[in-house]
Amino acid sequence: MTSSIGTALVTGASSGIGATYAERLAKRGFDLLLVARDQSRLDELAATLSARYGVGAETLRADLTQREDIHLVEQRLRDDAAVTLLVNNAGIGPQGPLLTGDLDYLDRMVDLNVFAANRLAVAAAQVFAARGSGAIINTASVVALAPHFFSGTYVASKAFVLALTEALANELKNKGVRIQAVLPGLTRTEIFDRAGGSMEGLDPERVMDVGDMVDAALAGFDQGELITIPSLADGGLYRSFEEARAALAPHLSLKTPAPRYNG
Ligand SMILES: NC(=O)c1ccc[n+]([C@@H]2O[C@H](COP(=O)([O-])OP(=O)(O)OC[C@H]3O[C@@H](n4cnc5c(N)ncnc54)[C@H](OP(=O)(O)O)[C@@H]3O)[C@@H](O)[C@H]2O)c1
Repeated sequence: MTSSIGTALVTGASSGIGATYAERLAKRGFDLLLVARDQSRLDELAATLSARYGVGAETLRADLTQREDIHLVEQRLRDDAAVTLLVNNAGIGPQGPLLTGDLDYLDRMVDLNVFAANRLAVAAAQVFAARGSGAIINTASVVALAPHFFSGTYVASKAFVLALTEALANELKNKGVRIQAVLPGLTRTEIFDRAGGSMEGLDPERVMDVGDMVDAALAGFDQGELITIPSLADGGLYRSFEEARAALAPHLSLKTPAPRYNG
């Protein structure tokens, strides 16, 4: 049996936000294609969700820091017309300050959070635009708007995802394709444990339950939002930020330097 609303390809589906998207999307009737490295966790989730919701659930093991594995997932996106939604979510978190940082870990972070995220988002955009339908959900982070919150490469990787989403949205206008960047704040998952830290000790008032986070993100998607910040009660604050940025636009590229820089 195949779902009439198609298949959601979810990266980072073995835990946390990705596993929660998989559950919520299965509940909505999507078939699933679950991508991550941990085959046994993927298998268990696929079996549970297909039994619970009667949807098809397949797994695709991929280490998205490896080019061959990224290409495998990209090829599936291109070849499988049943895939109607990409949840581009796999990512690793920050370990600490850059001045004492492990550059090899940061390379892996850029490979996963930037290189793989870019390759899959752009491939999906190309394929969906050609078909005139489909949707892309990119997991960014509020740190894209608050660089002082966390260590730099992580922040920069999430700023990349936000900027990429906005740029793609511009190109996807009138192509029948939806795109959304989700900007979670602190969300209770394994992300810090995996990076050698912990969520223990954080102010619980600032940490969202992963189910609440994904439900809010999907509500934002249903409302047609391009940018969803699950904890932001006053949407007008983000609109003011965008208006301030838009006011800069006419001044950003001119023939002459600004008078305040004249010798
Ligand atoms: N939790 C937060 O506070 C928070 C806040 C803002 C944004 N985010 C973003 O949310 C996304 C999901 O994170 P999470 O919080 O759900 O963390 P998580 O529980 O650690 O989940 C991360 C997922 O990414 C997968 N992954 C890690 N390395 C991978 C690799 N090399 N190749 C393929 N998959 C890989 C993991 O699966 P395997 O280990 O099985 O490969 C896992 O499924 C990330 O992009 C993160 O930056 C999280």
